[in-house]
Amino acid sequence: MISPSAGRLLLVAAVLLLGSTASAFNITILLSRYPGFEQFNDLLSRTHLAEQINSRRTITVLGLPNDRLATIMQMTPDVQKSILSLHVILDYYDMIKLNKLALGTKTIATTLYQSSGVANDQQGFINIVHRRDGTFVFGSAMTGAPLVSTLVNSVAAQPFNISVLSVSQPIIAPGMDGSWVDPAMPAPPKAPAPAPKKAAAAPPPVAEEPAADDEPAADAPAPSPSSGAPSSAPAPAEDAPAADEVQDDAGAEQVTAKKKSGAVKGVVSGVTVGLVIGLASLLAGH
Ligand SMILES: *[C@@H]1O[C@H](CO)[C@@H](O)[C@H](O)[C@H]1NC(C)=O
Ligand SMILES: *[C@@H]1O[C@H](CO)[C@@H](O)[C@H](O)[C@H]1NC(C)=O
Repeated sequence: MISPSAGRLLLVAAVLLLGSTASAFNITILLSRYPGFEQFNDLLSRTHLAEQINSRRTITVLGLPNDRLATIMQMTPDVQKSILSLHVILDYYDMIKLNKLALGTKTIATTLYQSSGVANDQQGFINIVHRRDGTFVFGSAMTGAPLVSTLVNSVAAQPFNISVLSVSQPIIAPGMDGSWVDPAMPAPPKAPAPAPKKAAAAPPPVAEEPAADDEPAADAPAPSPSSGAPSSAPAPAEDAPAADEVQDDAGAEQVTAKKKSGAVKGVVSGVTVGLVIGLASLLAGH
C-alpha cells in the first residue's frame, strides 16, 4: 500500500524525472512562431526529424522558407528526410559565432545526415564559407559541390542550444537524390569509393562560387549564368575560400561539444539513480 504522502512524493519524483529528460526546446513550437516556415516545419514533423532535433542540446537548423521548398516537395519522403537532415548542423552557430569565422575561410560542419549512418564520402558534411564581402554561403562538403545556399538571416537563437537560420536554397549533397552526375568526372563509377579523408590538394578552382545572388526569381536551383544581373554581377572568383584554415578548429569544437554533452548525461543519470534509490527506500519503509 502506498500512503498519500508517499504517493505525493512519487508524483514529485516522476515530475523531476520527466523534467530531467525533457528537451531544451521544441523545434515545432519554435518554428511555428515565425511565419513563412510552415511547410518546412511540417516536413520536419512528417520526416520525424523534429524528434531527433529536439533530442539534441546543441544544434543549428538551416531553415528553408515556404517558397524555397518546391524542389524538395517533388521528392520521395526518404530523400526529403535525407536532404532536410543535411540542414541540421550538430553544433551551435548563431550570427555571433558565424561572424567569428575568419573572412575568406571555409568551415566544415557535421550534420544530422552524417549521424544517420547512410552518408557516403563527405555527404554528411557541409561547408560554411564566410566570404570576404562578409556574407555566408553553404554547400555540400563533397568535392566539387557548389556553394548553393546563401544565409538570409537569423530566425531564432537560444544560446547555446538551438539556432535557426534562414537560407536561400536547399543544400543537396551529390548523389543524395540518386540523380547526380559529377561534372568534373567523366563516367563516374556508381557508388563513390569510400574516401572519407578530405579532398586532397586543391583541385582546379572549379566554379565553387555560384553567381552570388542569383536566387531572387525562380526556385530552380540551376545556377543561371547570371546574365540578367549587370551591376551586381562581378562576384569575384578570388572569393573562393582559402584552403580549410578553420577546419581543425571546427573539429576540436566538435570534440569539446561531445565531451560536454557526455558529462551532462552522466550528471542526469546520476541524479536519476539517486532518486530511484531514494524512492525505493522510502517505499520499503512502509
Ligand atoms: C543547453 O544545453 C546545455 C548543454 O549544452 C544544457 O546544459 C542546458 O541545460 C541547455 N539549456 C536548456 C535551457 O536546457
Ligand atoms: C513539440 O511540440 C509538438 C507540438 O505541440 C508536440 O506534438 C511534440 O510532442 C513536442 N515534442 C516534444 C519533444 O516536446
